[in-house]
Amino acid sequence: MQVSIFGLGYVGAVTAACLADKGHGVIGADVQQAKVDAFNAGESPIVEPGLDALMQAARQGGRLRATTDVAEAVSESEVSIVCVGTPSLESGRLNLDFVRKVSQQLVDAVKEKDGAHTIIFRSTMLPGSTRTMVHDFFQPLLDAGLVTIYYCPEFLREGTAVRDFREPSLCVVGTHDGGPPTGTEPFELLGENARSSHGKGRRPSSTPATTSTRSRWGLPMRLAASASTWPWTVPASWMWSAGMRS
Ligand SMILES: NC(=O)c1ccc[n+]([C@@H]2O[C@H](COP(=O)([O-])OP(=O)(O)OC[C@H]3O[C@@H](n4cnc5c(N)ncnc54)[C@H](O)[C@@H]3O)[C@@H](O)[C@H]2O)c1
Repeated sequence: MQVSIFGLGYVGAVTAACLADKGHGVIGADVQQAKVDAFNAGESPIVEPGLDALMQAARQGGRLRATTDVAEAVSESEVSIVCVGTPSLESGRLNLDFVRKVSQQLVDAVKEKDGAHTIIFRSTMLPGSTRTMVHDFFQPLLDAGLVTIYYCPEFLREGTAVRDFREPSLCVVGTHDGGPPTGTEPFELLGENARSSHGKGRRPSSTPATTSTRSRWGLPMRLAASASTWPWTVPASWMWSAGMRS
């Protein structure tokens, strides 16, 4: 699959390197030229065990490069994964300015693209945010059948991020309307191992993006609370979309 990654920080760099390592063609996009240059030199812009080696191998194999050009990244990919930052505000809310900016850029680029596009939001957001992004930016493209939108929260931990990506404990896929996913991209790209341990050929169904966003907040808290009582449980509504390793 050809994949573009928006935001080459911690989450984006790990996602890009690991997907390229799995054989996907990856084009990273960032507003910071220094991060783009690092990618194109096969150097990780962040410090994370194992990442430099993955990036060098992917560069040498011609499966990884980066650009500051949004239109180029979208036109040369089938799927875009949004990993831009969502810093906390003093009020406790999240600053979604970067997500909003990249959403507008994606809308403009998809309009220019010859064909449909899939967008997976990975940045941490509060429940309801994906619906707001769809309402504010993507609805006309959705109505025209030009985009498919998913929300797949990131659960990786710094220091073990590569392993966490390769063997995710959990893959939660949210669709903007709670309907069944129309494609397999989120599972193939972000939850393959999680899904397979749930039973081969069994594809987890979807949940509204609001629920998958809630899981980003609720599950770590629940994990922390129940760390000593493994296995822990989650509400059934979360399990619909969860591919969990046994
Ligand atoms: N770091 C973690 O361990 C971790 C874990 C789980 C979830 N998350 C979440 O993942 C998201 C990303 O986190 P991070 O730590 O990778 O952030 P980060 O700040 O390290 O990187 C974000 C990157 O996005 C880029 N960016 C901003 N606007 C852009 C645009 N319009 N186009 C392209 N690139 C743009 C920035 O230049 C930056 O390089 C956040 O929502 C965060 O809360 C992070």
